[in-house]
Amino acid sequence: MTDTLTPVLTAHWDEPDSFTLAGYKRTGGWQSLPKALAMQPDDVITAVKNAAIRGRGGAGFPSGVKWSFLPQGDSKPHYLVVNADESEPGTCKDIPLMMASPHVLIEGAVITSYAIRASHAFIYVRGEVLHVVRRLRHAVEEAYAAGYLGKNILGSGFDLDLVIHAGAGAYICGEESALLTSLEGYRGLPRLRPPFPAIEGLYACPTVINNVESIASVPSIIGNGAFWCDAPGTEKSKGYGIFSLSGHVTTPGQFEAPLGVTLRELLDLAGGVRAGHRLKFWTPGGSSTPILTDQHLDVPLDFESVAAAGSMLGTRALQIFDETTCVVRAVLRWTEFYQHESCGKCTPCREGTYWMVRVLERLEDGNGTEEDLDKLLDICDNILGRAFCALGDGAVSPIQSGIQYFRDEFLRHQKEGGCPFDPAASTLWGTAS
Ligand SMILES: Cc1cc2nc3c(=O)[nH]c(=O)nc-3n(C[C@H](O)[C@H](O)[C@H](O)COP(=O)(O)O)c2cc1C
Ligand code: SF4
Repeated sequence: MTDTLTPVLTAHWDEPDSFTLAGYKRTGGWQSLPKALAMQPDDVITAVKNAAIRGRGGAGFPSGVKWSFLPQGDSKPHYLVVNADESEPGTCKDIPLMMASPHVLIEGAVITSYAIRASHAFIYVRGEVLHVVRRLRHAVEEAYAAGYLGKNILGSGFDLDLVIHAGAGAYICGEESALLTSLEGYRGLPRLRPPFPAIEGLYACPTVINNVESIASVPSIIGNGAFWCDAPGTEKSKGYGIFSLSGHVTTPGQFEAPLGVTLRELLDLAGGVRAGHRLKFWTPGGSSTPILTDQHLDVPLDFESVAAAGSMLGTRALQIFDETTCVVRAVLRWTEFYQHESCGKCTPCREGTYWMVRVLERLEDGNGTEEDLDKLLDICDNILGRAFCALGDGAVSPIQSGIQYFRDEFLRHQKEGGCPFDPAASTLWGTAS
């Protein structure tokens, strides 16, 4: 049973100056960098491999293994790109992390760049979150002034320049190959892989691209490797992560806990589902991960157990919906998002998301039929595994899982001539029960 929080990344978020260099140093920050610089770069990679941390951006690829794919001794520049585009519905951990503790991300970026032999690193952050862009840029200025960035860092001979790049705001630009294309100055469209970024990434050079939380975890791995290696969890899902609870929950927010914690335990910490209501469905890792229900309260939130339950751990964005929520309406809203964010490059996703919205609108209005459900599932089959990138696959998750668990509710709309739910009751200020 994992019933305790394990604040590492979030430990000092409530301190008023946690985002400053002085505040970060006071709480032990910037102490892992000298330790890393005293190691051989390959030993840093081995330490991250041994910690067995899997990427925190959704797909869960082991970070140390990814770093080791970069060719060594080649004559090309290497790059580190931090993916700070966070835009998956429900995902809300990287932005608070960067606001509260930008220096841990920068320290992680310097250590990672040293390990992969990069002398240029980028943090690609979505431009709409101007407050985050400003905070990161200020922290980067502080880091340069303190000698943690720039030439001959801490007298080690290692040089690194770090650029904060503001994207124009598109969900597809979080997909790693589209992000690299966007960073190069082109329209953010995904690229065919292979070649993978480790071989041909930014400017066709070897590139590591990692999520904010993955890179921000590096200082604690180097600083206290034993903590990570002894972390609870399974062989394939080790360590700690930020779990974001949102929606119909008494105290929404970020809860840093070992992988394997359950929703029941997290809900206890968050004061439960909002008063007077009960859990109906939830996403374990953002809207691209199939929904689960109250049958899944005790599923350990690690990569394998969530997969065995028919979903994905994703970004640990737990969106909680109580019994006032119309599942058809929720699925329609998500699908509208995917339609809007589809980049249009491939037919299954471009056309499919458009048609799925039309069919769902019909169903929500009470004008849909049972055949419409089959049509929806058929369109899903034509997108899943056939789209050019994982945005298309993500778009079908809410629909397939929504129909799997709540088929009757989709049909009730037709029987009752419209939506049987009061939309006001599901709002957070709604009082109707
Ligand atoms: C449509 C789409 C959007 C994505 N958005 C993000 C994002 O905002 N942040 C992120 O870290 N990864 C995002 N990803 C996953 C990235 O492609 C990539 O797997 C990740 O940045 C790798 O980092 P990690 O190994 O540290 O998890 C997205 C993927 C897709 C398909
Ligand atoms: S799946 Fe969607 S987002 Fe991805 S390339 Fe195709 S149209 Fe673009």
